[in-house]
Amino acid sequence: MKLFDVYPLFDLNFVKAEGSYLWNDKNEKYLDLYGGHAVISIGHSHPTYVQRVTEQLHNIGFYSNSVKIPIQEEVAQKLGKISGYEDYSLFMCNSGAEANENAIKLASFHTQKKKNICFIKAFHGRTAAAVAATDNKSIIAPTNESDNFIFVPFNNTTALEEAFKNHEISSVIIEGIQGVGGVQIPEPSFLEKIRSLCDEHEAVFICDEIQSGYGRTGKFFAHQHASVKADIITIAKGMGNGFPVGGVLISPKFQAKHGLLGTTFGGNYLACAASLAVLETIEKENLLQNATDLGDYLYEALIDDPLIHEIRYQGLMFGIELKVPCAPLRNKLLSEFNMLTGNASCPKTLRILPALNITKTELDAFIEAFKILSKSNL
Ligand SMILES: Cc1ncc(COP(=O)(O)O)c(C=O)c1O
Repeated sequence: MKLFDVYPLFDLNFVKAEGSYLWNDKNEKYLDLYGGHAVISIGHSHPTYVQRVTEQLHNIGFYSNSVKIPIQEEVAQKLGKISGYEDYSLFMCNSGAEANENAIKLASFHTQKKKNICFIKAFHGRTAAAVAATDNKSIIAPTNESDNFIFVPFNNTTALEEAFKNHEISSVIIEGIQGVGGVQIPEPSFLEKIRSLCDEHEAVFICDEIQSGYGRTGKFFAHQHASVKADIITIAKGMGNGFPVGGVLISPKFQAKHGLLGTTFGGNYLACAASLAVLETIEKENLLQNATDLGDYLYEALIDDPLIHEIRYQGLMFGIELKVPCAPLRNKLLSEFNMLTGNASCPKTLRILPALNITKTELDAFIEAFKILSKSNL
């Protein structure tokens, strides 16, 4: 059997990783500025993570959600405390798409309505409802096409009001910061408008914090830079530092009922051990502060570079929009400097999403490489 060939691949085979570095099978060292799509939150092979997951594996790895799994409650309690959403409940699942799928479904169970507002350039995943809320026609199969999803321009209050006027809305789903769309940051006033329109029309405000959450922007959730609370928040990626885990944070206004949501693997012991390791490390190493400080440092170091058109950032979530397409720069960062970076749906935007405990010295290496390449004829 061969692999179903859906991923364009770099010719790289990593065999070891530690902190913000990876080594390939030729023992060549790479600096990770992208964390495998924002997944590596506390650094590769963090000792707390390795110890927690290993210990858990020696005790018990899996039983289904038909028995008590107290470590799930430990995760919920710690997550509630660190995120400021202590009165919310947690439903654990396995990925970002699954978290959004459940969020949209839960909203609709609650409101008994069908239509959802989503945004131009949004990315919410590849399962049925999540992909229907995603602004990329090429990944929506005919069976997933749905007129239950209404696309509205990002940060456009008038269009949002129009959509509410013209449809019975069940939910509004918005990323804390659009990631795949090129690090597009919602205006605080736009998030406040979503909140007030949802309240007025008895709709559910879903904030997808799958990429922008878990301290990436210097607050636990990106939407906390504005003074709003969402009704449902979805999480994944940085939550498990590479262990597949996702979750849905649910406001007390939603009524749980046995059988309403469910999953076989969601909330398994190993995923919980990984999640606890991440939360403990974020707290112990003060990583929200590191994200804020080093984000500002990177911005200041790059903002005057003549190759750059604009930098959109919050904490360590960076969209560096160049004046030219970013592919040649990305390729040279990789081939000449052994540095991994990301792209976005807009071809001129370079995405930088490093581990939250990346150091100044590691960022300096990237800044130096960027400046050398910017001066060269790309
Ligand atoms: C904002 C956002 N939501 C949802 C997803 C989907 O997550 P997953 O790939 O874990 O299904 C992604 C993945 O890139 C994402 O960036």
